Amino acid sequence: MKTVLVTGGCGFIGANFINHFVPQMPDTHFVNIDKLTYAGNPLSVAQQQNEPNYSFEQVDICDSDAVNRVFQKYAPDTVVHFAAESHVDRSIHGPADFVFTNVVGTLHLLEAARALWKNDFSDKKFHHVSTDEVYGSLGDEGKFMESTPYDPSSPYSASKAGSDHLVRAYHRTYGMPVTVTNCSNNYGPYQFPEKLIPLMILNVLERKPLPVYGKGENVRDWLYVTDHCDAIMTVVANGKTGETYNVGGNCERSNIHVVHTICEIVSELAKLNTEESKSLITYVTDRPGHDFRYAIDATKIQSELGWQPKETFETGMRKTVEWYLGHPEWITDVRSGKYREWIDQNYAARGEK
Ligand code: NAD
Ligand code: DAU
Repeated sequence: MKTVLVTGGCGFIGANFINHFVPQMPDTHFVNIDKLTYAGNPLSVAQQQNEPNYSFEQVDICDSDAVNRVFQKYAPDTVVHFAAESHVDRSIHGPADFVFTNVVGTLHLLEAARALWKNDFSDKKFHHVSTDEVYGSLGDEGKFMESTPYDPSSPYSASKAGSDHLVRAYHRTYGMPVTVTNCSNNYGPYQFPEKLIPLMILNVLERKPLPVYGKGENVRDWLYVTDHCDAIMTVVANGKTGETYNVGGNCERSNIHVVHTICEIVSELAKLNTEESKSLITYVTDRPGHDFRYAIDATKIQSELGWQPKETFETGMRKTVEWYLGHPEWITDVRSGKYREWIDQNYAARGEK
């Protein structure tokens, strides 16, 4: 049986990855390590809790002793590293946690893997999940290639750039079999409602202002989250050691277009007036250093590994809105921090708090 250590498996993408692959791969043991910050909700993976091929440990990747302990306990042959501070706006207000978790935390994982694997890297893999934001901002033309030079704008993207460089350095210096994916904006179930799409869905429902930064003309390249999860597993299984793969949905939309689409779908499904929903749009002060446009050229992963996204923006957005409408208890829990009571009840007795 293979053992995959997943970091940050209670966050948005990590939880979708766990929920997607634990049932599909019964011969693989998935060990989820997560600090359970405000963004990590164990309820998002509660359905896996009693599965024989799933384990959870509450671990802060900034704590090198704790990281080493879980590596020694489970002896993973594969690491899929999601854990990060992920929200650009938070990084502008408080960059330090981003450097600690994203850079120093990544270092501790690399060191723990090197200590466990003792330079015998056969059948081992360290996969690092990263972002297109490391490439900086595009103008009206062009796309990010794997060869595009790094030019990060925010403390978040600078910290992710630092972690990417460290991971690649472990390949060049120690021969560690690493792969890196740099993906565009994800959306789907379990995304914390500070990010554009879930924030707007909930604000439309609650008839609150829809805060659009600047003129709403900034462009993002949207990908449904399980398509990203499939891309990661494809690279883990078949990606070439030391290589980077860009992942994106070929789905560029301006922010204002996204917000209009959300107003239309939410209003239709929740039986609200669409024009009244759109009248909630409020233009607010722009994000400092706001990257204008992201667009991914995903030719490499498509042509070399055969990955293709399954969802279109229209099908993915509808699924996403339906999911938020159908899970009011998850929303209440993440907003109020109520899930922390669940952690106390479920993990305290096991000493994992
Ligand atoms: P998220 O903020 O929803 O989840 C992050 C998870 O990491 C949470 O469960 C949190 O508890 C955990 N975590 C944070 N600090 C930790 C620490 N010190 N130790 C252990 N666990 C810790 O993030 P996400 O959107 O799911 O992103 C996951 C990864 O994917 C990140 O590395 C991010 O940079 C990358 N990424 C995200 C997107 C996107 O659109 N969301 C796109 C491309 C890449
Ligand atoms: O590109 C990948 C990145 O996508 C990931 O690496 C990050 O972890 C993830 O958070 C996301 O970053 P963005 O900054 O692009 O996502 P966010 O949802 O914060 O914002 C999307 C766009 O919407 C961006 O142009 C800013 C704008 N925005 C955002 C918020 C929260 C608004 O106009 N209003 C808002 O209230």
